[in-house]
Amino acid sequence: MSALTVVRAGGSQLFAPDPARDGRFVVKARWIECDNLPGAHPLHSVQFFHRQMNEEVDSLEASAQALADFPNAPWELRLALARQCSDEARHARAYRAQVERRGGHVGQFPVLNFQYRIITAQDDLIARLAIQNRSFEAGGLDAIAFGIGEARARSEHELADFYEAQLADEISHVRFANTWIRKALKDDPRTALRIGAAMNRAAEAFRQVMGTEGTEGVEYPAAMAARRDAGFTEEELQHLLELTTAAQAAEREKPADRTAAVV
Ligand SMILES: [Fe+2]
Ligand SMILES: [Fe+2]
Repeated sequence: MSALTVVRAGGSQLFAPDPARDGRFVVKARWIECDNLPGAHPLHSVQFFHRQMNEEVDSLEASAQALADFPNAPWELRLALARQCSDEARHARAYRAQVERRGGHVGQFPVLNFQYRIITAQDDLIARLAIQNRSFEAGGLDAIAFGIGEARARSEHELADFYEAQLADEISHVRFANTWIRKALKDDPRTALRIGAAMNRAAEAFRQVMGTEGTEGVEYPAAMAARRDAGFTEEELQHLLELTTAAQAAEREKPADRTAAVV
């Protein structure tokens, strides 16, 4: 059990227990406890891909846990979750290949399982979709779209091609979540209150894991086209654009010498 054990805020759980990891892995609870190598370090990219690999496994495990925890969910939603499991497994394998291609190995760096622990702490499937797909993965759309341009600029075309394929998959994950969340809101408008409460818990949990260290300077431009494809409305996109523009302006006013990655 890691240092961040099951914590309750206002009677609600912030973190579920860690998912299982075999003896190759060292599991940490907070970003600050990880290696977090600087961008100029020779192992920086190995560490980055190792982190991505474990995050994809977390996403696979969270979707698989949803299938196990909500056996009576509509069949079409369960099918979408099962497809997501398959996609995330493919992404994890691809990131593992990137690690090994650079001479790294599974378990080389400590890992965080904050996504799984935050998502599966919620006992409401719609809330889980809002946190996992509509928040974490939607943020991932921005990061991946940014990564495509970076990889192309470095002439790493194979990596850029993988990112493009991954982006298409992640768009579909965000889109089906948006579809089911909108349906749930239409069926029962009080769903908005449940989602809001769950998002507040997730934000508090995320703050505890990442601290200010893990999120400073990590603002990607909003991938507007990808988010539009993923089912966000024009109003939501406009709101997001205002938020990211403000965050980037605030970031420019600070001395910037750090690198961190969150997908
Ligand atoms: Fe993925
Ligand atoms: Fe995904």
